[in-house]
Amino acid sequence: MEFQEKDKRIIEKMIKISKKKPLLPETFIPWDYKEKGEEIYLSDELISIGGLDEYEKLTQKQKIELGKHELGQVMYSYAWSETMACAFFNRRLLKIDMTDFEYKFLIRETIEEYRHQSMFCDAIERIDEKPLPPTSIHKWIASLTVKIAPDSIMFLSVLAIELATDIYGNVLRKDKNIHPVVQKVSELHHIEEERHILYAKLWLKKYTENAGIIHRTIYALVVILNLYFMRTMYVRSEIFSHVGFLNPKKTYKKAKVNLAKKFGELCLKEVTEYVDSFNGWNTFTKFIARKILKISI
Ligand SMILES: [Fe+2]
Ligand SMILES: [Fe+2]
Repeated sequence: MEFQEKDKRIIEKMIKISKKKPLLPETFIPWDYKEKGEEIYLSDELISIGGLDEYEKLTQKQKIELGKHELGQVMYSYAWSETMACAFFNRRLLKIDMTDFEYKFLIRETIEEYRHQSMFCDAIERIDEKPLPPTSIHKWIASLTVKIAPDSIMFLSVLAIELATDIYGNVLRKDKNIHPVVQKVSELHHIEEERHILYAKLWLKKYTENAGIIHRTIYALVVILNLYFMRTMYVRSEIFSHVGFLNPKKTYKKAKVNLAKKFGELCLKEVTEYVDSFNGWNTFTKFIARKILKISI
């Protein structure tokens, strides 16, 4: 992959930062923090039923428990999507030379992503959560994609997920009531993901800048489908029965619709702008985005 000179300088700088200022979860996260009992794990605006009557009727203890379970799902999904990203990076690394510029950055990114996965695993354990694994359909789609999708589609998928999850992290690191372990995990992730996001955008330039209408449409659809894929991993009906809902299936259905709306309003501004930057929005892609992601564009 050939980069423009100015982009090359940016990437060189990012390689240096990654080497000189690594953020190690072992020292960056206050793992020994002593709980006061009032900490929350997920902000109301990110909780699937937050804003609905069903949520307001819960006791504070139930609200905290629901937030903790849903955060467990979010962190599991982050770690799992990064495992897929690493599988792809390794696939890509096998195709390029070790002296290649791209190789040097991808190795740094892979190191950081493995550290993130380890951090999410530790954080899940630290808050004593037992998240539900992805469904078999999620697993099947993911492993097939990593095996057969072209590199451009894989980079775009990684970028779409990074852009949206970054918003979750932003909300969590800024909310003062969030458990400090979760807050610092989000802060670390936000800092390092910024580099990954920038790199993916620079890498994809070659594909997105002069793409024709068909490719632009495909790229926009890839972004939409990835976001849908990720969002559907967050809400699980089992969680509502754990929290004590009498009709967990009914609440689950409402939660899915509510989260889709909130996710569309809160998390997709940057992604929408990115698709706009390569003219990916047309009547068809806008229609699909409105239907699937519930965003108004
Ligand atoms: Fe990450
Ligand atoms: Fe990343």
